[in-house]
Amino acid sequence: MPDTIRTRVAIIGAGPAGLLLSHLLAASGIESVVIDARTRESIESTIRAGILEQGTVELLESSGASSRVRIDGNRHEGIELRFAGEGHRIDFAAQIGRAVWLYPQHEVLKDLIAARLAEGQDLRFGARAERIEDADTDRPRVVCVDADGAPFEIEADFVVGADGSRGVARAAVTGSRAGGYSREYPFAWFGILCEAPPSSQELIYSNSPDGFALISQRSDIVQRMYFQCDREDDTAAYTEEQLWEELQRRVPGTTLKEGPIFQRDILRFRSFVAHRLLDNRVALIGDAAHTVPPTGAKGMNLAVADVVILERALRALLQENDSRLIEAFPDAALKRIWKAQHFSWWMTNMLHLTPETSEFDRMRQLGELRTVVESDAGRTYLAEAYTGWPLAGL
Ligand code: PHB
Repeated sequence: MPDTIRTRVAIIGAGPAGLLLSHLLAASGIESVVIDARTRESIESTIRAGILEQGTVELLESSGASSRVRIDGNRHEGIELRFAGEGHRIDFAAQIGRAVWLYPQHEVLKDLIAARLAEGQDLRFGARAERIEDADTDRPRVVCVDADGAPFEIEADFVVGADGSRGVARAAVTGSRAGGYSREYPFAWFGILCEAPPSSQELIYSNSPDGFALISQRSDIVQRMYFQCDREDDTAAYTEEQLWEELQRRVPGTTLKEGPIFQRDILRFRSFVAHRLLDNRVALIGDAAHTVPPTGAKGMNLAVADVVILERALRALLQENDSRLIEAFPDAALKRIWKAQHFSWWMTNMLHLTPETSEFDRMRQLGELRTVVESDAGRTYLAEAYTGWPLAGL
C-alpha cells in the first residue's frame, strides 16, 4: 500500500497560484499539502514575465507573502506604445492613479517558497501527480510519485489543480487536455536577457513594419527584450549581431544599449480557457485553467485573482460547510478571466504582424493604435486593464 497523507486541501503545483493559495489558506487556519514535479532550484530559476499589477503587489504585501516587491522591484507608472515612428506614453498615474511593479515571477516564487517553508508548510518538490481519483466524492485523492520514485497518495477534502497548462488536473476536470476555448497565434516571441543598462525608462511596446518588439527590463544592469519571430525559429539561428539588428530595427527612434546576451528563449503562446474550472471537489486555477499571450502581462496576475476567489470559497466550504461560493467559483473567476483574455488578445493583435496581414490590415492597426492613444477613454481603458481591475472583495 502506498503511503497516504491526509490533509484538507491538496494543491498540485508550486507556482504562484498554488503557493499563494497555500499561504492564504494557512492564514485562515486551513492546512494543505503542496506538491510539484520540479525541483526547488528549477522553480526558482525559470525565467518568466515580470509585471505585477498593483492589486497583486498589495495582496503579496498584506498577506506577508512578499515584502521585497517595493524594495527590490521597480514601480512603473506608464508604458510607451510605439508606432509609425512615434512614441506615445500611456500615463497610468495620470489616467487612473495606479501603477504596476516590475518584479520577476521567479523572485515572487523565491519569496513565497521561503515564507511557506518558514511556516512549516508541507511542500514537496520532485513529487509528481499522476492522476486524481474519486473526484466525484467528498474524499478526492491525488495519486503521486515522490522524488525517489516511491508511490504515495494525498487524500483531501478538496483538490486544487495549479499545475499549469501541461499538468494532470486540467484533463481530470475537463475530460481532456484540449478541453477548452482556444486560439493559436501564427508567431512567437524571441526573448533575450543581456547585460546592459536600460535603454528606456519605461517598457516600450512597439508595432513596426518589421513586426513587434518589447523592450523590458530586469535591473540596472540586466535587460529583457523580445521580438516577434516565427514559431519554428531556433534560438541558435541568430548571431548576437543579428539579434541586435532585429531588435533595433523594430524600435526606430531609440538607440538600444547593447551588451552581452547571456540567455535566449522562444515563447510560443496561445489563448486558452478550460471548458470547466470545477468538478465537484476539484478546481483549476492559474495556467491549468487558462493561458494568455504575454503581451498584456496578465499571466501571473490572473492566477492571483483566481486564488483570491477560490480561497474565500474554500473557507466557506471547509469551515462553515457552505458550498454556495465554491459552486459560484467558476462564474466568478471567468468574468475576470475573459476580460483578461480579451485584453491580452487585443494587445497582441494590435501590435503584431502576421504572415496574412494585408496592407489594409496594417493601416487599420495604426488607426486602432491612434484611436487608443488620442482618446482619454482609450488611454484609460488600457491603463485600467494593464494595472489590473480590482480584486474580488479586496
Ligand atoms: C517581461 O519583462 O518579461 C515582460 C514584460 C511585459 C510583458 C511581457 C513580458 O507584457
